[in-house]
Amino acid sequence: MKKNDRKPTTTDAGIPVASDEYSLTVGPDGPVLLQDHYLLEQMANFNREQIPERQPHAKGSGAFGYFEVTQDVSAYTKAAVFQPGVKTDTLIRFSTVAGERGTPDTWRDPRGFALKFYTTEGNYDMVGNNTPVFFVRDPMKFQHFIHSQKRRADNGLRDHDMQWDFWTLSPETAHQVTWLMGDRGIPKTWRHMNGYSSHAYMWVNKDGERFWVRYHFKTDQGIECLTQEEADRIAGEDADYHRRDLFNAIKEGNYPTWTLKVQIMPFEEAETYRFNPFDLTKVWPHADYPPQEVGRLTLNRNPTDFHTEIEQAAFEPNNLVPGIGPSPDKMLLARLFSYADAHRARLGVNYKQIPVNRPKSPVHSYSKGGVMRVENTSDPVYAPNSKGGPAADGERYPEDAVWNASGDFIRAAYTKRKDDDDFVQANALVNKVMDDAQRDRLVSNVVGHLKKGVSEPVLLRALEYWRNIDKTIGDRIAKGVGYE
Ligand code: NDP
Ligand code: HEM
Repeated sequence: MKKNDRKPTTTDAGIPVASDEYSLTVGPDGPVLLQDHYLLEQMANFNREQIPERQPHAKGSGAFGYFEVTQDVSAYTKAAVFQPGVKTDTLIRFSTVAGERGTPDTWRDPRGFALKFYTTEGNYDMVGNNTPVFFVRDPMKFQHFIHSQKRRADNGLRDHDMQWDFWTLSPETAHQVTWLMGDRGIPKTWRHMNGYSSHAYMWVNKDGERFWVRYHFKTDQGIECLTQEEADRIAGEDADYHRRDLFNAIKEGNYPTWTLKVQIMPFEEAETYRFNPFDLTKVWPHADYPPQEVGRLTLNRNPTDFHTEIEQAAFEPNNLVPGIGPSPDKMLLARLFSYADAHRARLGVNYKQIPVNRPKSPVHSYSKGGVMRVENTSDPVYAPNSKGGPAADGERYPEDAVWNASGDFIRAAYTKRKDDDDFVQANALVNKVMDDAQRDRLVSNVVGHLKKGVSEPVLLRALEYWRNIDKTIGDRIAKGVGYE
């Protein structure tokens, strides 16, 4: 291409510039002139390119696609996105939890599975993980948990002693830790793992009937995992292994898909079920609530600007649309605050006007002003008004995703039920789901992890923790770390 067939370089103000290579100076050997506003803009913008990374889930990537409803679940929800035959544009971001923006994709960690559905009734975000459970059940512990997974205050290092200290003092972590130390703790690629809502949510149908649901996005590529050895090698060879795999697969037209299935619990059963169904450290056994198909998610478009489309993407579990609501899961209820707060801090109050976060349905809100607002506000700017401004329609959009609650103000765990136990589902995972080879790898992964700087008192507690999950596995781990 001849040089003058190309678009002329301009400043950010669109002013054509004379050179991409030379600063404006007094003669070829002279000083640089302050009036070279193009040079100044280059230097100043460069200094401001980075925005704060997410705390947690900093490392990740994503893609665009669509969700297509294949089965009729309208008896359970009136949500526009889940009506028969509806196809909705979608954004997904996959991530690791504890690492920073540049850490290796193949470190052992849960993976984020965050979806934004651009529905006709506003953005619906389903911010899940590749695991059906979580480490803790009370939001008071979340921040401490993440601190224990990240870096120490003194030397800035990650520290297995602090990880096991937290885990062994929090027995409710046993199920998720067992899951994490098993094969699925390191997926081969993001395409080869499932995504789960983990939490229960409420679905409401057009007659106002309510149900509790848990989402399972099952990979159509099949589950594949990496061994610890494979993951360690890849971490050194290509820290961006998962990001690269997703981008290349989509670039080559090899579009990954997931089938969404939901477990549905009748509203009233939650009260009498044998454990609290909103406890995030437990799954609903498939035998009790068999997953039912809803539709398929397909990813078919890569971002063209990682920064604007992925780094500035803002997912928030509080983006719930008519027909979908929260459940009494305490973790979920806290998340309904935390994410929008994080976005206001990281991206600014008007982050929903960044194109990737902007709904594709009309916005008629009364928000105004604020840093970086780019869409005009129009009068009237208050409600109620007699000037034709938007008016809430409680008949069409009733506040129906609700439940009844009463009690004294208290700080306590969920009320104990018959089958409330921190270890029973971890034990089922070890003994009913894993085979001998998987159990061998579980033992080897835990032994390897415990051998990295875990102090004796914490190590002894870790052995007791594993013996509580399963005596044989605990004994094998003890032998592996030399404490028979
Ligand atoms: P099921 O036998 O019906 O379900 C077992 C499920 O475990 C499988 O369907 C599969 O879930 C998942 N799984 C298979 N291999 C592994 C592995 N190596 N690591 C983690 N998960 C695996 O029994 P239950 O429903 O009674 O659950 C038994 C245990 O299975 C639970 O305690 C839990 O640890 C685990 N599990 C249960 C899930 C649930 O929602 N009920 C979901 C995932 C795990 P999938 O089909 O989602 O791939
Ligand atoms: C990211 C808080 C539990 C999945 C984040 C972020 C915060 C946060 C502040 C960073 C948001 C950002 O800057 O964009 C919390 C709190 C929790 C909690 C307070 C519990 C009380 C969970 C659970 C899951 C989850 C249980 C999964 C079921 C994710 C995912 C992301 C994330 C996937 C990354 C989203 C993205 O890709 O941008 N969390 N979290 N979190 N969290 Fe949580």
